[in-house]
Amino acid sequence: MNSLKVRVWRGGAVGAFQGFEVPRHASQTVLDVVTHIQRALDPTLAYRFACRVGMCGSCAMTVNGVARWTCRTHIDKAVKNENQIEITPLRNLPVIRDLVTDMREFFDKWARAKGQFRGARSRNDDFPALKPDTPARIQIDAGIECIGCAVCYSACDVVSWNPDYLGPAALNRAWTLVKDERDSKKLERLRAIAGDAGCHSCHTHMSCTERCPKQISPTAGIAGLKRAVAKAALEGVL
Ligand code: SF4
Ligand code: SF4
Ligand code: FES
Repeated sequence: MNSLKVRVWRGGAVGAFQGFEVPRHASQTVLDVVTHIQRALDPTLAYRFACRVGMCGSCAMTVNGVARWTCRTHIDKAVKNENQIEITPLRNLPVIRDLVTDMREFFDKWARAKGQFRGARSRNDDFPALKPDTPARIQIDAGIECIGCAVCYSACDVVSWNPDYLGPAALNRAWTLVKDERDSKKLERLRAIAGDAGCHSCHTHMSCTERCPKQISPTAGIAGLKRAVAKAALEGVL
């Protein structure tokens, strides 16, 4: 039977590769391969997934050196050497075990970037609807579909050089809120992302934008944040 040679990272920050041979199937995804290993070959393999349809963002791993959402990555389309793949955990995050990373610092940075919506209305008011075909809504639609997979964060070299850097996902989230006319905490948010760990550290390498599986451009959002911070500084309100 046609089979695939798979090298999988085992252990934590210190560990080693383990080799497996996995049968090939039509339309097989990288997540299918990892699942086969765990179910049929070695039940101690740790990995993470939930939806299997590109919604939850939990299945991201590094495949042949490239960060990817594994449930939507087909072996025959995305793996260069079709009969050999190497699967490791996401870069730039602590490894808990095998393919599972600790996502706490990734989401803590969303909180540091003030990634929570803060409306001005009370529970007694109507919802402030933003109709899909209005300019106000269209300008945030580009960034709002983030699934929190951390593929961009793993692909960003600035995060590797400066672990304090908020990173593309948290900054993209901040940008969608800065552009959301229903949000009432724009200045607070701009102050949170204006420092050394914020938008000005981005070197516009575009790796986040190239890798994002949802075709979001954190790079464009970060450029927008830089402009918004500069404008607020010139107006003397920051
Ligand atoms: S564009 Fe900025 S945030 Fe995106 S990968 Fe490059 S340095 Fe990181
Ligand atoms: S911006 Fe894209 S790559 Fe980054 S966390 Fe969101 S969906 Fe994933
Ligand atoms: S398992 Fe949910 S996005 Fe892959």
